[in-house]
Amino acid sequence: MTEQTTTQGEERDYDEYRVIQDLGGWKRTHTCNELTAADLDKEVTLMGWVQFRRDHGGLIFIDVRDREGLTQTVFSPDIPEAHERAHAIRIEYVVALRGIVRLRPEGMANANMRTGEIEVYVNEWKLLNTSDTPPFPIEDRVDAAEMLRLKYRYLDLRRPRLARNFILRNKAAQSVRRYLDALGFLEIETPVLTKSTPEGARDFLVPSRMSQGMFYALPQSPQIFKQLLMVAGLDRYFQIVKCFRDEDLRADRQPEFTQIDIEMSFPDEEQIMDMAEGLVRTLFKETIGAALPESFPRMTYKTAMEEYGSDKPDVRFELKLQDVKDIFAGGGFKVFAAAPCLKAIRVPGGLELSRKEIDDYTEFVKIYGAQGLAWIKVKEDGEWQSPIVKFFSEDEKKGLAERLGMVPGDIVFFQAAPVDVAHAALGNLRLKLGERFGLIDEKAFAPLWVTSFPLLEYDAEDKRWVAKHHPFTSPQPGQMDTIASDPGGALARAYDLVLNGSEIGGGSIRIHTPAAQKSMFSALGISDEEAEEKFGFLIEALKFGAPPHGGIAFGLDRIIMILTGSKSIRDVIAFPKTQKATCLMTEAPNIVAKKQLRELGIQLREKAVEAAPEAKTEAKKDEK
Ligand code: AMO
Ligand code: AMP
Repeated sequence: MTEQTTTQGEERDYDEYRVIQDLGGWKRTHTCNELTAADLDKEVTLMGWVQFRRDHGGLIFIDVRDREGLTQTVFSPDIPEAHERAHAIRIEYVVALRGIVRLRPEGMANANMRTGEIEVYVNEWKLLNTSDTPPFPIEDRVDAAEMLRLKYRYLDLRRPRLARNFILRNKAAQSVRRYLDALGFLEIETPVLTKSTPEGARDFLVPSRMSQGMFYALPQSPQIFKQLLMVAGLDRYFQIVKCFRDEDLRADRQPEFTQIDIEMSFPDEEQIMDMAEGLVRTLFKETIGAALPESFPRMTYKTAMEEYGSDKPDVRFELKLQDVKDIFAGGGFKVFAAAPCLKAIRVPGGLELSRKEIDDYTEFVKIYGAQGLAWIKVKEDGEWQSPIVKFFSEDEKKGLAERLGMVPGDIVFFQAAPVDVAHAALGNLRLKLGERFGLIDEKAFAPLWVTSFPLLEYDAEDKRWVAKHHPFTSPQPGQMDTIASDPGGALARAYDLVLNGSEIGGGSIRIHTPAAQKSMFSALGISDEEAEEKFGFLIEALKFGAPPHGGIAFGLDRIIMILTGSKSIRDVIAFPKTQKATCLMTEAPNIVAKKQLRELGIQLREKAVEAAPEAKTEAKKDEK
């Protein structure tokens, strides 16, 4: 912890402090995380920011920081020119220091710092810039509000923990490029001003000035373009690319995020999954030295949902959901007997949960539509404590105890609900319980392929079937014909890669004939005209000898979150957006001048003007 011994004081006269505009020929010789006892007596030049200053009138100690780390420097009264002016140095001033590397005195070494054995005895220095008092201290243990840190993001990024995230992010990107280049993948850029690509979110739109009344859409992914590159015969493509999705934000979602987007020609699922596993293994090895398994386990979507209540199961721990519906069918406890789905989780050690904790869990599962959360505690003497067992028959109790293997110390939670609600409620409760009972090994990496996704899912709001992945995903062999009769039953040639419960990638084998693509659109209730209008160019391209192709896209930000152990996606994106999709630093989005709107042929609706009061003022200014 840095002790702050100074305040910056009033506005400073840059001349008075002799801030120089050029480096006067000085060249940096080392970073601030480089010097060790091996460099003793060398003359070195360091440049960086003042992290910390200790000034007792005699020796002045200044810790200088750069991206890489810290070095302690000493100003001694023996060198009056350097020492005298050093009194004026404040935190976050930018300095260039030239001096000699010395060992720190006996007992003063700091084993926690790479440069902890040495200090630089300053002979000469230059002030490269002053700094206002930063709105929060530049150190890892900062408790400043995130809003403030995002407003001054460039200062936030000076903090070593954040800086390290970007050093690692760069390493990851380079590792991916090397890996894919070696396999013959070409890095090719695709347009950002384009037409809507259906990945299930809302589009960000950009109005066109040249074609008034028309809009570009920012790509939700380069999906269609990468397929067209396969039609073009380029064979293997990748891109580390920004994608834009106007959707509700969460801890692992941003409106603009980065994909490692990959497509290949003539593959089957195995080839794509092999290539993808190799990429993730190489990435983890080269960035953090972690060894992932030689082969990633696989699980069908059906099993994932039934046993983990999630299509991205965290398989670092067990606590599986168990079906107990048959045990209570036709029984006396109506909530259970009448339930479309009845599932349970047995939690060893759960007896210790307090009433308050159980009540909190009951509230928590309501987020997912649960009506309640029934439970049974198995006391040390084997007796069941529960508000509901009085409704159970002896057979039901016996059946339940056997099915779940209940033993003293357990708690069992139940969810009686429509299947989606039961899975979501217990699946998410499972994650909470995993944390509560310390079942998650934070150092473990548990990758998992989830396969055999349904091709379609029912959109209850729009009352129609939509593509679960996207409408270019191929059904499994023979299933195109059954879509019409059993839309929910068809399976896709799609796969997701899940790591520690986070969906880090997803892809599929694509439809590559125009006939199959048309059948797919018609299964989705997309008329020929609509298909033509939206994707005519793709269907046409498929007519010109499109090769079988498929691919995958990884969420780079999510991978970096896992590699750095970050809880928020904002910690791995240099300039992230808030939950409301705004940038606090630039204040984007913002109003624009009326002239700009006029050029675009756009007029704001009354409601929008009211919502942005500044827009009115700005508009008035324009009128004059
Ligand atoms: P998908 O939509 O599954 O597939 O996206 C691929 C991966 O991108 C990441 N991701 C996100 N990361 C941060 N913020 C977001 N808002 C966000 N949305 C998605 C996830 C996800 O697994 N074109 C297809 C890929 C293909 O079929 O090849 C696609 O975009 O980690
Ligand atoms: P009640 O009969 O509504 O008082 O509920 C008795 C117990 O069953 C309480 O612990 C409720 O939280 C729980 N419960 C009620 N509805 C459900 C449900 N659909 N699934 C699981 N538990 C429920």
